[in-house]
Amino acid sequence: MTIELTINGEVRTVTADPRTALLDVLRDSCRLTGAKAVCREGFCGACTVLVDGEAVPSCLRPIGMLDGRSIVTIEGLAHFETPNPVQQAFIDHDVVQCGMCFPGMVMTLTAFLETNPAPSRGEVKAALSGNICRCTGYERIVDAVLSIQDMRKVSGR
Ligand code: FES
Ligand code: FES
Repeated sequence: MTIELTINGEVRTVTADPRTALLDVLRDSCRLTGAKAVCREGFCGACTVLVDGEAVPSCLRPIGMLDGRSIVTIEGLAHFETPNPVQQAFIDHDVVQCGMCFPGMVMTLTAFLETNPAPSRGEVKAALSGNICRCTGYERIVDAVLSIQDMRKVSGR
């Protein structure tokens, strides 16, 4: 099956079995390895990307259902020299350790802050409930998110 997607603003044509997970298309066919393959069952959030602006686990999205959709991965969100505000807050609060969970967390939080630019501590925790981190304490991560001054600029769009 041939599928046309917009990935990080670029129209891409992919030929794949329609059952192939978006995660595998991104990592293997598109060489976009920011989304991590960890549980592959929708539990950890490490593979989170944006599909039409919604944060979703790419390991559970068959590519055959995504024809014509717009995908944003961590590679499309910001560049090393110009991190988006979530990434900058994580850097400033020194919360990144192994980094395995962080691309997914950044994508989840970016989508969340687009719709809720002034969240409470509890809302940030709830937003992160689908993203598992085994290294960094969650309180520091939440502190970092709440430190962002202008949530409206999170996505950079
Ligand atoms: S790898 Fe997709 S949710 Fe864990
Ligand atoms: S920093 Fe290692 S899993 Fe989150």
